[in-house]
Amino acid sequence: MNDEKPTASLLSRGNWSSGLGFVLAAVGSAIGLGNVWRFPYITGKYGGGAFVLVYIACVLAVGIPIMLAELLLGRKTHRNCVGAFRSLRPATPWVLTGWLGVVSGFVILSYYGVVGGWVLHYIYLSLSDGFTGKSTAEVSVMFESLAGNPLLQVAWQTLFMILTIGIVAGGIHSGIERGNKVMMPVLFFLLCALMVYALQTRGAREGLDFLLRPRWEQMSPAGVLEALGQAFFSLSLGMGAIITYGSYLGRETNLVRSAFYIAVGDTVVAVLAGFVIFPLVFTFGLEPGGGPGLIFQTLPVSFSRLPGGVLVGSAFFFLLAFAALTSAISLLEVVVAYFIDEQGWKRRPTTCIMGTVILLFGVPSASWSAVFDFMDKLATQYLLPFGALLIALFTGWVLSHGERRSEFHQAEISDFTYGGWSLLIRYVCPLAVAMIFLHLLRVL
Ligand code: TRP
Repeated sequence: MNDEKPTASLLSRGNWSSGLGFVLAAVGSAIGLGNVWRFPYITGKYGGGAFVLVYIACVLAVGIPIMLAELLLGRKTHRNCVGAFRSLRPATPWVLTGWLGVVSGFVILSYYGVVGGWVLHYIYLSLSDGFTGKSTAEVSVMFESLAGNPLLQVAWQTLFMILTIGIVAGGIHSGIERGNKVMMPVLFFLLCALMVYALQTRGAREGLDFLLRPRWEQMSPAGVLEALGQAFFSLSLGMGAIITYGSYLGRETNLVRSAFYIAVGDTVVAVLAGFVIFPLVFTFGLEPGGGPGLIFQTLPVSFSRLPGGVLVGSAFFFLLAFAALTSAISLLEVVVAYFIDEQGWKRRPTTCIMGTVILLFGVPSASWSAVFDFMDKLATQYLLPFGALLIALFTGWVLSHGERRSEFHQAEISDFTYGGWSLLIRYVCPLAVAMIFLHLLRVL
């Protein structure tokens, strides 16, 4: 079994205090900038309704099965993403899958921190009443001047990373779990309230039409790949974040139900964000395909026209920053857990060192938008789908039926559900991801 050097004892690794605490933390990891910032602008880029449908299909057929696979690998081994593969198949190249996850954590957090910094900057702008009386064009200029100012971005990114490091250094229990329980529900209610407002604006009809009516002529294989990459990004899959979170779980947590709740909760929030953004895009005459600045250009304009807008705006960006933080900590935790478990490092110094290295690695993304775009593309279109493919192959084909089945206890999964999942993880997931890769390489 575990024949590599057991550098950290399992008992000292920490655990979630309850099943609910875990689900909330995993939901916290999943719900983040991916839902509120990335999903709307990608949907805008790929023509709305058709993209949303392909996205939902990706979540159901590929996302949920892989989420379950990652939870299984984590809980079975109680290890970080490298150790999980190492303990199940020692001395095989499968451990590279874990390393790929650590690399992905570096890449994603490096530019995620930049966007986290934007959100912090927008809290500051809202609090200082920076949007009141501004026209749509003026608000757009505000975003562009931030995006064109590397120093300012790095300053906010640094603050965001300091907050992330602070929480991860505190450890699983007291650091990560607590805030989630309050902030996630509040974010959800605020999004609902904003949706009610957005649906009453002039552009509501056009916005809904854009979001809901499938225009298949705008869908392409590239769009399918984007949808799949977005599903992995949004559900935190393909790099071992969910393996790592699953590793702090006890047997009593129902994995199947958890995977389902996490995926559904995440998707509901993404679609909700779409219901807020697109009516506003059309009301204020913005470009739906406007790219990464989309929420930073639409929302402030509407906040500036809303009674109590300063308050609503500040609250919104504050909660978004919180959602971004609960995701960022899961990215950093993957990297940190590797060094703690496998190299025997101490949590605090590891967190500070790795957090700083990632911050420095993210400075080019803050300075040049081409680097930012490259990192985002590298992560969502290559690293995450490839990681997810390997996780699916490992769980479906390398692990034996007995190894898979025995991790689930009786009440957790029926034979029928297990059979369906096996089919998806063995055939559907690998084929779907592989086909898209082949298409990218122009083989298909
Ligand atoms: N899911 C988060 C979001 O939507 C981002 C994230 C956190 C992530 N952990 C991850 C993405 C692990 C990929 C892998 O904002």
